Amino acid sequence: MRQALVDRPQDASLPGRFYTDPRFCELDLAHLFYREWIFAGHSGEIARPGDRFTLQIGDYPVLVVRGHDGVPRGFHNVCRHRGQVLCSGATGSGRKLVCPYHQWTYELDGRLSFARDMMAEIDASRFALSPIACEEVAGYLFVCLSPTPPDFAPFRDAVEPYLAPHRLARAKVAFQSTIVERANWKLVVENNRECYHCSSNHPELCRVYSARPVMSNAIGQPQDEAVDAHWRRWESKGLPSGFRIAADGQFRTVRLPFLGDAESMTADGRPGCRRPLADFPEPGLGSMLLFHYPSTWNHVLADHAVSFRLLPRGPNETELTTKWLVHAEAQEGVDYQVDHLTRVWVATNDEDRSIVESNQRGVSSPAYQPGPLSRIHESGVTQFLDWYAATMGERLESSVPSR
Ligand code: FES
Ligand SMILES: [Fe+2]
Repeated sequence: MRQALVDRPQDASLPGRFYTDPRFCELDLAHLFYREWIFAGHSGEIARPGDRFTLQIGDYPVLVVRGHDGVPRGFHNVCRHRGQVLCSGATGSGRKLVCPYHQWTYELDGRLSFARDMMAEIDASRFALSPIACEEVAGYLFVCLSPTPPDFAPFRDAVEPYLAPHRLARAKVAFQSTIVERANWKLVVENNRECYHCSSNHPELCRVYSARPVMSNAIGQPQDEAVDAHWRRWESKGLPSGFRIAADGQFRTVRLPFLGDAESMTADGRPGCRRPLADFPEPGLGSMLLFHYPSTWNHVLADHAVSFRLLPRGPNETELTTKWLVHAEAQEGVDYQVDHLTRVWVATNDEDRSIVESNQRGVSSPAYQPGPLSRIHESGVTQFLDWYAATMGERLESSVPSR
């Protein structure tokens, strides 16, 4: 893979093996998904002590649970007795964590507190759940499988000022969907990073969201008048809005206006939830776009937020979980209708699924060759692939055993 990264054509899609080869997928998992901070879920999903959810990162079952002290913690979701998956459901709640196999019982901080008829013969302190790193920022929970996680502070410092005004730490998930896209995870990200395809594929999204290149550009400059005015307006009201990207390109935040007088990403442009996430000073906030490679992109609006979490399930399969967040006290049927709230992104996700699945079939053809990326429309794809190639290249380099 190292050589293939060096040889790849610049400003072009990747050679086919990057999307199809199971060994390349293993390397993506080992060097990105097992080493980077991965978006796991939202604070509001584990609002009370004992609340928990699970996810699968590659080969690793993961558990995130809020402790009696209010602290969210991540663990390998594997019982220390004989390795049963400890919490089998997607979500759960309870004062302790009990293995369904032989009922070994763990405290919410991972300590083993009960092993039936075995407490006398084992040293319980040696069989606590294996912890994994977990961080919470403005309603978002990230986990990292690496015992030496990258510094989370630069991401926290950059995104907290953008996210905090939306008060997502208290928001609830009004609806969520998980779909499996039969495509390599990088095709899913690439497709998200450009809107070259939007006007001909996303009729619902394009009613409220402009497909102009400025909306997906990855460089931050030059901007156009409408976007500049949007930033000035909201920054003057204390809401960080300008384009901000990590030095290494791993994450980006920016606030962008909707089309015309649209207020939200709904079919009619009206708010998807009548109760806003917070008291914003005036209408017209648009969307705060946030991505963090390799696992998430987000639209954070005045009335709701939509988060996307992608996890590879193999070289040509990606799980995409989408969550719609609203104010914790918003009531379904009163403040929001699920269909109205979710229609645009349910449709857009399905359209994108169909696109990337077809893209996967194409890049799997022996006849496929990398093709050029548009400077105008696809700078975001170039930016993602450059980040991917630089990060993987560096890690493959340093993982080569020296003699
Ligand atoms: S494997 Fe969990 S109690 Fe036996
Ligand atoms: Fe799309």
